[in-house]
Amino acid sequence: MGKNSKILITSALPYANGPIHIGHLVEYIQTDIYVRFLKSSGFNAIYCCADDTHGAPIEINAMKLGVTPEDIIEKYYKEHLEDFKRFYVDFDNFYTTNSPENKYFSDYFFTKLKENGDIYQKEVELTYCEHCKRFLPDRFIKGKCPKCGAEDQYGDSCEKCNSTYQTIDLINAYCTICGGKPTRKKSLHYFFRLSNYSEKLKNWLENNKNFQPEVKNYVLNWIKEGLKDWDITRDAPYFGFKIVGEKDKYYYVWLDAPIGYIASCKNYCDKNGLNYEDYWKNKNSKIIHFIGKDIIYFHFLFWPAMLMGVGFNLPENIVVHGFLTVNNEKMSKSRGTFITAKECAQKLEPQYLRFFYASILSHSLKDINLDTEELKNKINSELIDNFGNLVNRSFSFLYKHFNGELVDFSYPELEEKILNLSKKVITFYEKLEFHLAVRTILEIGILGNKVFQDTAPWSLIKTNPEEAQKFLSFIVNVSKIMATLLKPIIPGIIERYENILNYKNLKIKNNINFELKSHKINKPKILMKKIEDLQLIPELPESKIVLKSGKILKVEDHPEADKLYVLEVDFGGNKKQIVSGIKDYYKKEELLNKNAVFVVNLKPAKLRGIISEGMILAAKSNNNLGIILTDLQPGERLKIENVDKYFEDEITIKFFKKLTFNSNGKEIFCNNKKILNAYPDKNISGKVS
Ligand code: 2FM
Ligand code: ZN
Repeated sequence: MGKNSKILITSALPYANGPIHIGHLVEYIQTDIYVRFLKSSGFNAIYCCADDTHGAPIEINAMKLGVTPEDIIEKYYKEHLEDFKRFYVDFDNFYTTNSPENKYFSDYFFTKLKENGDIYQKEVELTYCEHCKRFLPDRFIKGKCPKCGAEDQYGDSCEKCNSTYQTIDLINAYCTICGGKPTRKKSLHYFFRLSNYSEKLKNWLENNKNFQPEVKNYVLNWIKEGLKDWDITRDAPYFGFKIVGEKDKYYYVWLDAPIGYIASCKNYCDKNGLNYEDYWKNKNSKIIHFIGKDIIYFHFLFWPAMLMGVGFNLPENIVVHGFLTVNNEKMSKSRGTFITAKECAQKLEPQYLRFFYASILSHSLKDINLDTEELKNKINSELIDNFGNLVNRSFSFLYKHFNGELVDFSYPELEEKILNLSKKVITFYEKLEFHLAVRTILEIGILGNKVFQDTAPWSLIKTNPEEAQKFLSFIVNVSKIMATLLKPIIPGIIERYENILNYKNLKIKNNINFELKSHKINKPKILMKKIEDLQLIPELPESKIVLKSGKILKVEDHPEADKLYVLEVDFGGNKKQIVSGIKDYYKKEELLNKNAVFVVNLKPAKLRGIISEGMILAAKSNNNLGIILTDLQPGERLKIENVDKYFEDEITIKFFKKLTFNSNGKEIFCNNKKILNAYPDKNISGKVS
């Protein structure tokens, strides 16, 4: 890439009807690091993005909330900007697709493609809700999967068996807005003849050397199988741009969303005295998109075909990343792993998430996993023990003993080693192998720390202070190189470092060298704090109640109370005494030898003078009461659906009472989450005590 060519970088446009979450952040952080790296290296790059504002979900959401779609997109625009700022995602322009520029370009593309003969009209029959007076997109119709019979599946595909189908194929379909039974209705739509571009797309893909091979293969396969025409119309009510020359028809959101890349760039250029055509028409410019693997089809087929049709530049590269998993599973609201950017920033220094993502990101479609222990370890033992420690001890020593003054030095061999490692880091950044870039920066740190350890300035100062000062000056330069290389990842922390170094604006193009010699540093301050306790994923209350299978070995009457039994229960080698108020409902022999469910981490308490070390779980309905049975072995812990992490700490009765237990007669639920392997003894439904 030439340093003079203009580079436009984009990330996928986030939908303006929900918050930014830690999954989105993978992409924005990845892109932002890359842009910062390019800028630091002297490339002429800009980073443009926008909110993706159109579509049926936003319109339906607004209707449900009794507000306008504009209200929603305005609210999220502000929130998104705040979130990006928190995480140091520094767009040159963050715009909106609901803009005059985007309207202009959408009409321009549509008109031009129609003139080309790439767009034609065709009547289609679609699912329609008479009650809601609207056509129902995939997400707003549910029913039974025609393939596997799973209930409550969306109109396009089944989450249980993964099959895809047409909305008309759904069995017992219903409108998710009103619950009514949808009908079918005809409508005249515009279609984009994608197949007109099959050959051109194939050549473009085959000749591109930047694309990830696996992506290329996927897309070439799709082309081989034959490209289907694309329906680019949506009927009113819809939130979007009206199609030129039409009344109640709109461009499908996916038509105007990628055009939003151009609109945001144009808006930036207008504000900065530049010409957007230098990015989109000049052959020397470069466009690079970053996207997730779920939107490959749009970016590798529809979008380039549209660009070809109007004669705009095609992207030089489209970088595709995998999804974020949390504890190796898909993010999920019920597991508490759907963490918004805002929540995350309240619990963790945002730059630590940047560092963590960088240290696991590669140029690959593989999913990346967030594990809080690993994150903590990377920050404490890698970033802080390595870089933080090097800075801390060398700066403090130099400041204390040499008035913070650097002197001339020369250690050609070490210098060369570090410069070579730095070159590697730069190559890894270029190749988007951020995890290797991080690892190599840390190798520099290991060398630096070793020099400090080996030269032992604290004792050298007594025999040869000049030499000690030279080594310290060298080490400060090592940390300066590391800081310069780390800056795209943790820009704010490095700004603090620059303040201590008393040298601003570290850049890869200027500062990968050992040239800081006659210089004075400022009074050192602690750069980074270690993570002590990281509770990123909220602890679910259900995860704190220890439910175990116990075998009832003995049942005796409580000497002081008519309604109480004293049970001896075996929990797999460990026996407990449990006092229980089920005497009115169970005869002794009905309880003996049964495997029932017990709460075993309740704080022991005396009941009428006899200590109880737990509680038997029972369900109550009207005048009936039944214990909960289980087929687990004595001592085995019962799992609760959607709970990944369990705790063993003792709980109070007050805490226990905050949990709700219910039964439908067949199953038992704790806070509406199913308790696995547990079922009521008698056919009792209702509240569990
Ligand atoms: O998938 C999404 O979240 C879309 N909002 C991405 C749009 S990217 C671009 F094409 F506009
Ligand atoms: Zn309806």
